[in-house]
Amino acid sequence: ASNYSFPDDFIFGVSTAAFQIEGAWNEGGKGESMWDTYLHKNPQFTPDRSNGDVAADSYHKYMEDIQMIQKLGVKYYRMSISWPRLLPNGTDNNISREGAMYYRTLFEELLKVNITPIVTLFHWDMPTALMDLGGWTNPKVMDYFEDYARVAFNLYGDIIKTWTTLNEPHQHCYNGYGLDYFVPALMSHGVGEYLCTHYLLLSHARVYRMYEKEFRPYQKGKVGITLDAFWAKPRDANKAEDVLAANAYLHMHLDIYAHPIFSDVGDYPTFVRERVNNMSLEQGFSRSRLPYFTDEEILAIKGSADFFGLNHYTTFIMSPSSMEPKWNVPSLDHDTGVKVDQNLTWPRPGPEWLTVYPPGFRQLLNYVQDNYRMLRDIPILITENGMADLGQTEDYERVAYFNDYLHQVLLAIHEDGVNVKGYFAWTLMDDFEWSDGYTFKFGLYKVDFDSPEKTRTPKLSAKNYANIVRTRRIDFNYIKPPII
Ligand code: BGC
Repeated sequence: ASNYSFPDDFIFGVSTAAFQIEGAWNEGGKGESMWDTYLHKNPQFTPDRSNGDVAADSYHKYMEDIQMIQKLGVKYYRMSISWPRLLPNGTDNNISREGAMYYRTLFEELLKVNITPIVTLFHWDMPTALMDLGGWTNPKVMDYFEDYARVAFNLYGDIIKTWTTLNEPHQHCYNGYGLDYFVPALMSHGVGEYLCTHYLLLSHARVYRMYEKEFRPYQKGKVGITLDAFWAKPRDANKAEDVLAANAYLHMHLDIYAHPIFSDVGDYPTFVRERVNNMSLEQGFSRSRLPYFTDEEILAIKGSADFFGLNHYTTFIMSPSSMEPKWNVPSLDHDTGVKVDQNLTWPRPGPEWLTVYPPGFRQLLNYVQDNYRMLRDIPILITENGMADLGQTEDYERVAYFNDYLHQVLLAIHEDGVNVKGYFAWTLMDDFEWSDGYTFKFGLYKVDFDSPEKTRTPKLSAKNYANIVRTRRIDFNYIKPPII
């Protein structure tokens, strides 16, 4: 067992996201999200031609979900509200009564059994009606996000005291607006991903300030944001150019979001600003592809979070780019200019991007702590961490992953003094994994997607996590693969 234990005030939870588990895509007055619309039109987007129409059917099976959370022994449940389930057109002139009731009931049922919901407002399921207007490239959509947030605070703020505005704006903008790996699959040639980044940061800040002014005085809750980061490991730590490449990656993918919110500067990092400005100039743009904040906006963004939600899965290896300069299609990748290798470990069945490298987690936590001086009153919450495989219930690799990654969290707390205050495993149960459909599974509980009941079965990793939560320690021998 690890000699360290989790401090008394450290919280354990489990995470999900609405689109990935709810199903009931057109029930209860729900409007379409851009994922519904896009997947119905482009069934080949996922390798198994699947979508979120039914998913794990949590819209109907939430009472069973709650029992599963209880069995894990965790006291916190991080989940998201589906924006189009609450506001079918994305706008607050039309609030779905059934949608509003659904979340109210769910929150109350959780609280009855002492599980505190932590609620994400935007986990990628943009209402189609607003995506049709340009989604996060249209600054007007910020108004509608603010209206939606206000509806949510009004409806639930009496019982929900911890909110996160956005889940992983980076994955959303980079893969959805820059590339075609996520919906809306815009492939925007270096412009759309930065508009998305810019307006998401502003949207976050507006909701934070709105809560502060209109709700915090009497609801007394906290509002944060969830950012994501892979750790970037230089291919050769003794080579200056590899170290530079790793730093460039972190600046362009993590600090572009973290720096405006969590630094004392309140703006994009100088590195990012200069890099995108220079590249834009070279490419013949007469303005930078990265928009500028006004002074007023900087004031609003700076310090606009009560905690730093961090999602972490894997480590990539970095070296200088081998891209030819003539391959000059503007993009965030091109701006970053590094070569990313993912093969840190031997291949195993699962998503290619997710290789297991536990020490990267501790280094990332230290990076966040050192660069953003995370203080006692602004803690880090690990809002997601987990691993995918093909879905077997004897998931020894997932058991080892959670043990090893949580061990790195313990080291970061006890040996490095990093202010981490909580951990949420990704994810409660197998779900719709975005562009992987149902081909890879992250759940602590298996979901039999072929059965009409969407039967749930605990995996060994659920038992192991429950043991960690109960003992507040990691016992590496609690579950061991059979010796063959
Ligand atoms: C997202 C989840 C997703 C997970 C695993 C994170 O980027 O927040 O929605 O399922 O990674 O791919």
